[in-house]
Amino acid sequence: MKSNGFVKTLLHWYANHKRDLPWRQEPLPYNIWLSEIILQQTQVKQGLPYYERFITLFPNVWVLARSTEQQVLKAWQGLGYYSRARNLHKAAQYICNTHKGVIPNTYAQLLKVPGIGPYTAAAIASIAFLKPHAVVDGNVIRVLARLYGIREAVNRPAGLKQVQALATQLLYKADAGTYNQAIMEFGALQCKPQSPPCSICPFAEHCEAHRSHTVHLIPHKIKAKPVRQRHLHVLLAGPAKGRYFMRQRTSGDVWQGLYEFVCLEHNSATLTPAGQHASHKQVMQACGKRKLLKVYTHKLSHQTLNVKVYTVALQPEQIPGYKAYTIKQIKNLPVSQLTAQIGHDAGIF
Ligand code: ADE
Repeated sequence: MKSNGFVKTLLHWYANHKRDLPWRQEPLPYNIWLSEIILQQTQVKQGLPYYERFITLFPNVWVLARSTEQQVLKAWQGLGYYSRARNLHKAAQYICNTHKGVIPNTYAQLLKVPGIGPYTAAAIASIAFLKPHAVVDGNVIRVLARLYGIREAVNRPAGLKQVQALATQLLYKADAGTYNQAIMEFGALQCKPQSPPCSICPFAEHCEAHRSHTVHLIPHKIKAKPVRQRHLHVLLAGPAKGRYFMRQRTSGDVWQGLYEFVCLEHNSATLTPAGQHASHKQVMQACGKRKLLKVYTHKLSHQTLNVKVYTVALQPEQIPGYKAYTIKQIKNLPVSQLTAQIGHDAGIF
């Protein structure tokens, strides 16, 4: 399909179908940045309440920079992939320190900001500053791979290069911001991953995947490595009623910076300690009488956590590194969805 025909049809489709999103009324750089970081993590419908919360809590880059990492993590709670939230906070400080609080307006300068990669830089540069950079996200990959019948795996360099070349070639430079939003919106609403409604697609007669009945096979992706199985014992324990031992997770694993109850990892259903938890067996023996509260299977993108939750009696000296927190304090700590669910089910918060 010729590029001007594609652009004309796409922009026409967008004018008729675009969602009324809060950052679209006045595309301020800060708002566009925030929305794009959130939308890398979740879909528009789930992301909207987070966006509203962030804008209310952190209305501009200065407020975000001056807040604590813990406040930012708390506002992000539930979205997953918490390094995005930590980078958002770092980025705000970087922008205040090196750009006097003004979000840079070039692709190259944007790329230097923590957490801003090629996708986000292109999105901000085009939507907020009208610069001619093409975005390539999952939506764009799907639309272009289907339209042009790209069979190569799009999560490998060769396939991705083809899509990137097409994206650059098709970009409508006169209004790259609208064009980029239009192609992403088209991928999200019309050219959906599963069972897209091709019968009402304005590109159906030009679409290579539709013509060859391969829409369900494109974009092709090579399967990621198998999911890792992990086994955890979570102990709900405290020195007194209404207080629980918790600690902040450190780097090198999921959920860095978030708080957790006493958590011991072991290698399988047996109690062989894993990693740093050399005293696992001793702790489990020391707590003596323990009550199994609930079992969870918590799926993350690359690992499945098999979790048994116990209520136990423990003395602080038995679990160095943990501190006791009141329920009121716990409610303000950033925690993972799993910890929130455990605390909720146990009637703690
Ligand atoms: N997904 C991510 N960013 C988007 C945007 N700006 N418009 C539509 N869908 C999106």
